[in-house]
Amino acid sequence: MLSIPAFRNLYALFLLAFALTAAHAQQAAAPLPRVLILATGGTIAGTGATSTTTVGYTAATVGVDNLIKSVPELQKIARVGGEQVFQIASENMGNAEWLTLAKRVNALLAQPDVDGIVITHGTDTLEETAYFLDLVVKSRKPVVLVGAMRPSTALSADGPINLYNAVLTAGSQEAVGKGVLVVMNDQINAARDVTKTNTTTPDTFKATELGVLGYVVGNRPHFYRQSTRKHTVDTEFDVSQLQSLPDVQIAYTYANVGPTAVDAFVAAGARGIVHAGVGDGSLPNRVKPALVNARAKGIVVVRASRVGQGIVARNGEANDDQLDFVVADNLNPQKARILLMLALTKTSDTRVIQRMFYTY
Ligand code: SIN
Repeated sequence: MLSIPAFRNLYALFLLAFALTAAHAQQAAAPLPRVLILATGGTIAGTGATSTTTVGYTAATVGVDNLIKSVPELQKIARVGGEQVFQIASENMGNAEWLTLAKRVNALLAQPDVDGIVITHGTDTLEETAYFLDLVVKSRKPVVLVGAMRPSTALSADGPINLYNAVLTAGSQEAVGKGVLVVMNDQINAARDVTKTNTTTPDTFKATELGVLGYVVGNRPHFYRQSTRKHTVDTEFDVSQLQSLPDVQIAYTYANVGPTAVDAFVAAGARGIVHAGVGDGSLPNRVKPALVNARAKGIVVVRASRVGQGIVARNGEANDDQLDFVVADNLNPQKARILLMLALTKTSDTRVIQRMFYTY
């Protein structure tokens, strides 16, 4: 005969075993997330003449079906589907492609059976596409951009593991509501913060001073922080009806620079000019009159910096209030251009545009 305490222990063990079995069965039954891979080209889809060809290869040759087939492990972590949106090297990415891509992403994310999207992309302009989508995607579902620094045919190609980690992240609950992400080299970065820092090495994407959001390690994403800037569903931008974006150009600054570029942009009808200034966005004497003239013609001028880190301080190196210029905060010139284009779809009021630069 069992004593009453022994019976209680046995009963508790039975309940525990039952609960564990039920939890396991529930876990086993949970469907894998549905993650769609939208391919746009780049080195991740590139091929070289030999396995040691890591420069001088051809980008954008492998189609999305073969990209997916080359990583059979994807089938264990997601129900993946593929779509070839473009097949280009990312130096050829432009406003028209961004509008097409954003509309497609929004349409797919509106489908209840889609849990997340991965976009394969060349690394050269990946940060720009990522930030554009960060501002115009209207969903909290994960959107992850991924590329590779070595073509698919190279020894130690980084594309397959990057793609695997991107799909893991896009299918995860942890990535929901974090804005558009860039996953490469086992690291997760925010679209707004990240930039390409090295021409050839696989650890090229960095959020220089602000740092990574997290890592993909041990078959799952680990997040430690998130951006405080508004994105996706919390922005005021809507591309659903747009067929084109306002013309915004970047004028780069260097010792001995003159007004030629700014004057040419004004003559060509630009609606906005991003001044990629030296230091804290300083205005060289030879350039300032051209920018003042641009502003007098109604063109919105944004002072950014070519330095790559830090804030361009309003009314610091120039009297922005008097000049009626906008400062880029800590956006690099190529991202300031994107925000200015989207801002100009809503307003040309420089006070409102400055507010947007402090918001997104
Ligand atoms: C490209 O940006 O399309 C080529 C370079 C790369 O993907 O790394």
